[in-house]
Amino acid sequence: MIKPEGVERGLVGEIISRFERRGFKIVALKLTKLSKELAEKHYAEHRGKDFFEPLVAHITSGPVVPFVVEGEDAVRVAREMAGTTDPKKAAPGTIRADFGIDIQRNVIHAADSPATAKREIAIHFSEDEFVEW
Ligand code: CMP
Repeated sequence: MIKPEGVERGLVGEIISRFERRGFKIVALKLTKLSKELAEKHYAEHRGKDFFEPLVAHITSGPVVPFVVEGEDAVRVAREMAGTTDPKKAAPGTIRADFGIDIQRNVIHAADSPATAKREIAIHFSEDEFVEW
């Protein structure tokens, strides 16, 4: 999911393009503004942590672009493309290294396991938002 600072800074095309060039198949994609309820669901595993409230406030502060890609080893490769959570520590050439501002404004969220991906996809998309092609 491209975070508000990614959309606001005009990075949607750049980021989606990286996934296309890497050979992934986009199967669902939208521009939306998350409700507090959806954001809290999305980040449920972080509830209780000191950055939870600011995190929810940030992700609901502007439009986001959730998207789903298919491809071999997609979760691992997408995480690798995103880079480490903290942009300062992210490897050169990763999305967060290239565009991240700080640990909160790190431009993209990528699911950390196939099980998490399944859970998060169900939060942001209904069955009829997927296109088979
Ligand atoms: P994300 O991959 O979206 O998952 C949780 C988010 O919490 C993370 O990226 C960061 O943007 C944000 N965050 C803010 N502070 C921290 C922190 N101290 N440690 C980890 N994540 C943080």
